[in-house]
Amino acid sequence: MLTRVLEPEVMDTAEEAAEYDAMGHDEVNRRFCDDLLRLGPEPRRVVDVGTGTARIPLVLCELHPRCTVVATDLAEHMLALAERNVRAAAMSDRISLVRGDAKGSALPRRAFDVVMSNSIVHHIPDPRALFEELFGLVAPGGLLFVRDLERPRDEETMAKLVATYAASDTPRQRALFADSLRAAFTLEEAQALVAGFGAPASAVTRTSDRHWTLAYRAEPWGVSLSPPGMNPDESRGTESLVSLLRRLLALWAGAAGGERKPKTRPSARDRARERALPRGRGRPSSRRRATRTAASHTLSAGAKTG
Ligand SMILES: C[S@@+](CC[C@H](N)C(=O)[O-])C[C@H]1O[C@@H](n2cnc3c(N)ncnc32)[C@H](O)[C@@H]1O
Repeated sequence: MLTRVLEPEVMDTAEEAAEYDAMGHDEVNRRFCDDLLRLGPEPRRVVDVGTGTARIPLVLCELHPRCTVVATDLAEHMLALAERNVRAAAMSDRISLVRGDAKGSALPRRAFDVVMSNSIVHHIPDPRALFEELFGLVAPGGLLFVRDLERPRDEETMAKLVATYAASDTPRQRALFADSLRAAFTLEEAQALVAGFGAPASAVTRTSDRHWTLAYRAEPWGVSLSPPGMNPDESRGTESLVSLLRRLLALWAGAAGGERKPKTRPSARDRARERALPRGRGRPSSRRRATRTAASHTLSAGAKTG
């Protein structure tokens, strides 16, 4: 297995941004959006994390006339080209550009029906904070859709991929593609990463000869039916079935009896839990935790070189 070799995290020179924008990823961007839309339901409020020059939000908005996209990136030069592209497509009313770090932004928690991200994971040395952000942004019942390159197992596979997918590129572009492949995570590493957030390994699948994709749907109520303790990190853990039943009972009591009071005095633990929950909502957003289930759809192969 090849060792992971990092590349620079942010692509933020005018040349890099222009070169990236010119690389002609139209077909793979379209496939990314097709695969995402196939998972339904209709995306309305979408966030694209590490948007680059906003090519994917533009395709998504063309395909889906009712969605709006918040497109974020840390690189000013990427965002400058994104703004140019969005204006040229007359999409400024639907795509808003926000400069922010994908490892922790000021975007609202649990606010997006679709959280999408393409080809950014391999840029981040330790992407746990990135996944914390991605999982934290998705609304209950929303979709998390993340695709990235997969690190080849050996030099021979690496050479084949570069020859196949970057044959007509410049030597520099070929080198960049190879660097990106070398910086990428393997399928198994990606599966292990998302397991830290309660996602099953099956949520991450190989979707081409050089890509893996995470397709994961948050539980509608922002809770999971997983028994407590299934999560390797209990502090990141999901609400237990007992908690869910308690909340359903509380909802039922509220609906049936208006101001109905509990007959028994709540325990100190229950009172502490109540204090931690925002009124009428699920778990507090500061926990940045929406618990999720794997989207159970087969995805077609992605094909982006970078
Ligand atoms: C390979 S490009 C992919 C761009 C876009 N998602 C696409 O598919 O066309 C990776 C992008 O991630 C951005 N990026 C890297 N680290 C980031 C971070 N910590 N926060 C936000 N964006 C970041 C880079 O600036 C770059 O625009």
